[in-house]
Parts: sequence; C-alpha cells; structure tokens
Amino acid sequence: MQSLAPLLLLSLLFSLLLFCNANQANYLHGQLKSRISQNSISSSDSWSQLHAQREYSPVFLTSQDGQMQADKISTLPGQPDNVDFDQYSGYITVDPLAGRALFYYFVESPTNSSTNPLVLWLNGGPGCSSFGYGAVEELGPFRVNSDGKTLFRNNYAWNNVANVIFLESPAGVGFSYSNTSADYNTTGDIRTAGDAYTFLVNWLDRFPQYKDRDLYITGESYAGHYVPQLAYTILINNKRSNQTVINLKGIAIGNAVVDDSMLGQGYFDHLWTHALNSDETHAGILKYCDFVNDTASDKCFSFVQKSSDEAGDFDINNIYAPVCLNPVLKNGSTGSVNFFDPCSDTYVEYYLNTAEVQGAFHVRPTTWSGCRRFHWTDWQSNVWPTIQSLMASGMRVWLYSGDIDANVPVTSTRYAINSLKLPVETAWRPWYLDDEVGGYVVGYEGLTFVTVRGAGHLVPSYQPQRALTMISSFLQGVLLPFLIIWIITLTTPEK
Ligand SMILES: *[C@@H]1O[C@H](CO)[C@@H](O)[C@H](O)[C@H]1NC(C)=O
Ligand SMILES: *[C@@H]1O[C@H](CO)[C@@H](O)[C@H](O)[C@H]1NC(C)=O
Ligand SMILES: *[C@@H]1O[C@H](CO)[C@@H](O)[C@H](O)[C@H]1NC(C)=O
Ligand SMILES: *[C@@H]1O[C@H](CO)[C@@H](O)[C@H](O)[C@H]1NC(C)=O
Ligand SMILES: *[C@@H]1O[C@H](CO)[C@@H](O)[C@H](O)[C@H]1NC(C)=O
Ligand SMILES: *[C@@H]1O[C@H](CO)[C@@H](O)[C@H](O)[C@H]1NC(C)=O
Repeated sequence: MQSLAPLLLLSLLFSLLLFCNANQANYLHGQLKSRISQNSISSSDSWSQLHAQREYSPVFLTSQDGQMQADKISTLPGQPDNVDFDQYSGYITVDPLAGRALFYYFVESPTNSSTNPLVLWLNGGPGCSSFGYGAVEELGPFRVNSDGKTLFRNNYAWNNVANVIFLESPAGVGFSYSNTSADYNTTGDIRTAGDAYTFLVNWLDRFPQYKDRDLYITGESYAGHYVPQLAYTILINNKRSNQTVINLKGIAIGNAVVDDSMLGQGYFDHLWTHALNSDETHAGILKYCDFVNDTASDKCFSFVQKSSDEAGDFDINNIYAPVCLNPVLKNGSTGSVNFFDPCSDTYVEYYLNTAEVQGAFHVRPTTWSGCRRFHWTDWQSNVWPTIQSLMASGMRVWLYSGDIDANVPVTSTRYAINSLKLPVETAWRPWYLDDEVGGYVVGYEGLTFVTVRGAGHLVPSYQPQRALTMISSFLQGVLLPFLIIWIITLTTPEK
C-alpha cells in the first residue's frame, strides 16, 4: 500500500484548480482530491494480482443475433448530407444480475471498412463520456453546431482510417447505466476493466465480421488507466483456452495519467516554462515541495496557493485557448473543425438531451451529462507495471501529448517515461505535416512518445489534422513523417 501522505499534497494542488468551469479536467482533479478520504487504494502490484484472479464468463451473456441490425442508425437529427458510412449504437449488457449495460456508438470507415482496423476509444475522468467528448468534440465524424440541433462533418475524423467504437464507461457514465444504483458507489479501476472486457467479447459477437480484425485501444487522460488495464485483461484472458481470442495489436494514450508521483512536478514546471508563474514561486515550489516522497510543509502549501493566484483563471485543458464566456445556444452559425468552439459542451449537452436524438441513438430516455462523479473504490497509483507487461508481450505502445495542456502536461509524461530509463532507439526529431512541424517523436525500446504541437488535453479537438496524421502512423506502425524536401535558405541576410 502506498502512504496517504503524497495524496495530501496532490489534493491540495488540485483543489485549487477546481474553480475552473466544470469539464473533463475537473473530474480528474476532483477524483484526485476525493481520494484522500478513501481507504482502498490498491498499489500497482496488488492491482495486477487482484485482477488476474478474476474469471470472466466464457459464454456470451445474451444472444446477439439480430442485434447488429437493430442497432443500425438510420439517420441522426440534423446530420449533414452525403453521409457515406454506417453508424450503429446501442447497449451491451455486461452484468445481467445487477442490470448493468454499457452504451456504445460505432462508426465504420467510408472506404475500406472491411479491411481497416478496429479502434476502441475511451475518455477519462474517471466518469467522463467517450461519446460526448471523444465522438462529438474530438475524433468522431460529426460535431454539434452552436444551435444544439444540427451537426457538421469533421473531415479529420479517425474513421477515415479505422472503424471506431466509442464506449461510455463505466456504467453510470452518459447513457451507460446500472439498475443497481449501489454500483455507482462500488466502481473503480478493476470493475471498469472487467466490464469493458465483457463488453468487447459480447460486442464482437454482435458484430462477428470484426472478430478477427486487428484491434487497437486508444484514449486520453484518466484512460491512461483504462486503456492499459483493459489491454492487460485481454492479454491474460486470451491465454485461457475457453475465452474469445481478441486480436489486440496495440494501445495509444494521449496526455495520460500513468504515474501519480510525476503529475505535480510536471504541472508546476509546465506553468513556469510557459510564463504563467513567477521565478520566485517556482523556486519556492522546487525548494519546499516533494511530490514523490511528500515532504509537504506549510511553506509548500503557501507556494502552491501563490502559483494558483499568479496563473489566474485560464483553461487548464489548453493554456492558450479562449474560454467560454457565454454558454448558450446561438442560432444560425455553422461550426468549423478548424476552430474549436470553447462552448461546445453546451451544444453537445443540448443535442444529446433531445428526445428525437436519443431515439435515433436507441437509448432509453435519459438525462445525459458529460461527466459523473463516482465514489471511486480502487486506483492504480502507478500504471507502469501494467504497461510494461504489455510492452514485454510485443504490443505496440504509444504515448502522445498535446504540448499546451496543463491538465496532464507533456512535462509530467516525460518525467514518467524518464523514470523507466528505457534505451532510446530513435532519437528525438520533428515530424511534419504539410511542410510544417506537427510535433516531435522519440522511439524508446518498446514505447514510442509523440507530441502534437499546439494541442491541448483533447488533442483532436485542437489539432484535428495533426491528430489524424499521428493516429494513422500509429495504426500503420510507422514513425511519423519526416519533411521530405528540406528547404535550405542559402542567402541568410546579415543583420
Ligand atoms: C434495467 O431495468 C429495466 C426496467 O426493469 C429493464 O427494462 C432493463 O432491461 C434492465 N437492464 C438490464 C441491463 O438488465
Ligand atoms: C483503400 O485501400 C486501398 C488498398 O489498400 C488503398 O490503395 C486505398 O488508398 C485505401 N483508401 C483509403 C481512403 O484509405
Ligand atoms: C452512495 O454513496 C453516497 C455518498 O457516500 C450516499 O449518499 C448514497 O446513499 C450511496 N448510494 C447507494 C445506493 O449506496
Ligand atoms: C476456463 O478455463 C480456465 C483455465 O484456463 C479454468 O480454470 C476455468 O475453470 C474455465 N472456466 C469455465 C467457466 O469453464
Ligand atoms: C525520496 O526518498 C528517497 C528515499 O526514500 C530518496 O532516495 C529520494 O532522493 C527522495 N526524493 C526526493 C525528490 O527527495
Ligand atoms: C433561435 O431561433 C428560434 C426560432 O427559430 C427562436 O425561437 C429563438 O428565440 C432563437 N434563439 C436565439 C438565442 O436567438
């Protein structure tokens, strides 16, 4: 068991961030904060052990015959013309006794859907919706216009290169539910991974043409827990003779929470290097705070408070983004994928709470919201042991970071990776899109790390085209593109 002490410091840090508007970021920080009142925090080792003991039913819970056709979406209210791919949505029961069912939205590729890989996408929180964020604000084919009634096309959607499942997980998030409300108080990392595994086994039975397809699991933020934990669950169950073999090939996680002890330092270093904090305050934090061992003192606390006062009320998900000043619906404006509207949550919430829309998605009448606060029972404070067992199995493992996110900043991710002391196989270099630097890439033994330049926490929201290039490279198993033609300026004027 890890000591509770480091959590005190982290919780103080993140309680200061809670004044920001309610969004995905704050659920993560809220959960970090509320952890100190909880006893059952499993350490990394006990997580794997506990988990390995779990048995999943090898038989399908319910017959999936005919369900695929029933889940097919004929048309979505307000969708644009010329939709050239198939979409499905519905529930998969993951626990018939408790009455737990997970909601998914599945979009096929317009071309090559019968050969393109399968990608599962998971948002974090814990407790935030992969549908309301991932599908309709990030990488899905549509985004919601500011009227809250119509949709526009995302030309850089990931279904251009894969068939994508968005899973609202765990039960209690978005349209996913449990008929046993006590489930919402007994959910943690272990239940979430188990239910997602059961979901996948049954989903593949509902969509049997995908049973042998290459599968990649992707996600962001707190999905730094969900993605490796689900992958690990698949890995151990694939070895059991009576289980469905899932053809899992790799994982990619964005601005991922993988190691609690690296979050704090990375956060303050990011603020200082991006000119949001003074030299004095940063020096005070370096001197008095120890986020790894926790030597939290009153001095440390007062510098953390100063850091927050100095930085002011910015968008923690993207330090340079405009904030939503007027969260209301606006008539007659058509959105553009090239500009992420900071009030998007408002439009999405309205759209998904429209009866006609819920009918088109085959959901029970529900008050949908983007995030739900759980009493989270177990939490793997360091996910590396799980990720390293995936690396050891030969699975493709990518971590990527939007580099202007302060929520789970690129610095925290680099410190976390550096703590592993992995040998570098491909040295740090820029990658290019349309003759411009799209970000940077470095290849370690067993792990690739990619940055996406100018992207915040929700990478595809802020840099949709770069995000598509990044995920295409991941799926193809190639490092990101070099600049093919080097432009050399021969005549540099003297100054
Ligand atoms: C939950 O309860 C409702 C109402 O009894 C029922 O229709 C539904 O099938 C149940 N869900 C699950 C997953 O068992
Ligand atoms: C579809 O697959 C073919 C054959 O692999 C390929 O040449 C083509 O570029 C693919 N189309 C798209 C849109 O990816
Ligand atoms: C869940 O926990 C909350 C807070 O501890 C409590 O108020 C609520 O009654 C619990 N719900 C159930 C169904 O156990
Ligand atoms: C599934 O196989 C494992 C061994 O791989 C065995 O221990 C377990 O009892 C089997 N479960 C069922 C339900 O058949
Ligand atoms: C944390 O404690 C360990 C020994 O327990 C020590 O080696 C390490 O230097 C400490 N880290 C910091 C940042 O003080
Ligand atoms: C938007 O238009 C509708 C009628 O089409 C009108 O009822 C509503 O008041 C308008 N809303 C705003 C914010 O202008």
